[in-house]
Amino acid sequence: MRTYASLILGILFAGLAGIVAAPAQDLPGDAEAGQALAVALCAACHAVEEGAPDAAAGQPAAFQSLADDPAMTALALRVFMRTSHRDMPNLILTDTECDDIIVYILGLRSGR
Ligand code: HEC
Repeated sequence: MRTYASLILGILFAGLAGIVAAPAQDLPGDAEAGQALAVALCAACHAVEEGAPDAAAGQPAAFQSLADDPAMTALALRVFMRTSHRDMPNLILTDTECDDIIVYILGLRSGR
């Protein structure tokens, strides 16, 4: 029993560390699918295309600025997409959709 518990914890922590530290290309999602999802689901409010600047002050951040913000790790993005968004009808994404959008956003990061 004990061994099982630590094995499971070990796997969980390894997975978490992977999510936090992994560069975009090591994440499980599909950036092309993520781009399509971003255009379909997020572009009403966010500028989602590569290099697109932020809209006016007070508007939601452009995905390029999310990508350029070092604090926006895959984990931070995932947590954000999993919790409710102010001014945004609850956004329900499957795990796969989340992974795809995360890879797309982090792939916009310069130098990757
Ligand atoms: C109906 C408008 C709307 C849609 C659609 C929308 N967002 Fe947002 N989003 C916002 C607003 C407004 C904020 C900033 C205010 C807040 O909720 O904290 C925000 C903030 C965010 C943030 C956090 C930015 C930060 O600097 O903290 C992320 C990440 C994000 N959105 C991702 C997404 C993704 C991914 C999608 C599509 C799957 C999406 N949003 C769709 C309105 C929207």
